[in-house]
Amino acid sequence: MIVTEGLTKRFNGTLAVDGLTLEVREGEVFGFLGPNGAGKTTTVRMLSCLIAPTAGTAWVNGYQVGREDGAIRRSVGILTEAPGLYERLSAEMNLSLYARLYEVKDVAGQVEKYLRLLGLWEQRHQPTAEFSKGMKQKLAIARALIHEPRVLFLDEPTAALDPEAARIVRDFIEEMRVEGRTIFLCTHNLDEADRLCDRIAVFKQRLIQVDTPQNLRQRLYGRKVAFRLKAVTPALVACVQALPFAREVQADGNQLIIGLNDPENQNPQVVRALVEAGGDVQYVGELRHSLEEVYFKLLGEP
Ligand SMILES: Nc1ncnc2c1ncn2[C@@H]1O[C@H](COP(=O)(O)OP(=O)(O)OP(=O)(O)O)[C@@H](O)[C@H]1O
Ligand SMILES: [Mg+2]
Repeated sequence: MIVTEGLTKRFNGTLAVDGLTLEVREGEVFGFLGPNGAGKTTTVRMLSCLIAPTAGTAWVNGYQVGREDGAIRRSVGILTEAPGLYERLSAEMNLSLYARLYEVKDVAGQVEKYLRLLGLWEQRHQPTAEFSKGMKQKLAIARALIHEPRVLFLDEPTAALDPEAARIVRDFIEEMRVEGRTIFLCTHNLDEADRLCDRIAVFKQRLIQVDTPQNLRQRLYGRKVAFRLKAVTPALVACVQALPFAREVQADGNQLIIGLNDPENQNPQVVRALVEAGGDVQYVGELRHSLEEVYFKLLGEP
């Protein structure tokens, strides 16, 4: 759906994006994470043909950036950092204007569909100058979708939103995924990325790592399981250490934290060994590193 090869953007002296090579698959929600100034927005602007790359190439929806920009613009939706609406026009007018620009067939129908979906139908006649930040954001999302694009670029879609509005937008992204659209999502909200994204790229001028959130965790930290016992005794520690597959055994209060590569098959063996050694197992649960920990580790920051 989106393929980039050595995509590069230089602004005068600044190298904003340096040789980005990646592939975003059809129907996936792809998270693009990185600190302020990492070059995320610049990447989105190149992929949606708003600015030209300095070097490298990219294909979006099968069309090549720089060669078939018109076709790309028609087939993608973009939510930019600043909504940029026509403030004196009503919400309805804003949307129908874009719907006509995109040559949408059923303009009135599409406008109504998205105003209702985003909860703006009652306010449709109000000039957008009178809208709150969140309402503007929702209208900008509606605008990005009005022509039913197959690929959607969302640059920090929930940044300005209250928790409820952010949730509406997140649910919306889920729905877009169910409909098989491809979503390229820039966000600073790591929990959001963790929940929504099939795969995540950590990026800072260059691509640092791409994988599923789960694989990123495992690759960096391995899997660890906590076994809570009535009491941890030296004998229990020793019996677990004797298991050939236990990578690492740590006692923490009344828990044993054990590094395991295959908890599904190894947990029962650990429990059996503990019980045989006289341990009372109260609880078994896998530890989960937050995506925030993964993110900072990948960026090499504390
Ligand atoms: N039009 C421009 N002219 C000159 N420099 C620019 C321009 N647009 C972006 N840059 C520079 O490119 C770099 C990347 O900016 P970009 O906006 O892509 O970052 P970002 O990852 O989106 O950051 P943020 O998380 O703050 O939105 C920055 O150093 C920025 O100053
Ligand atoms: Mg940005």
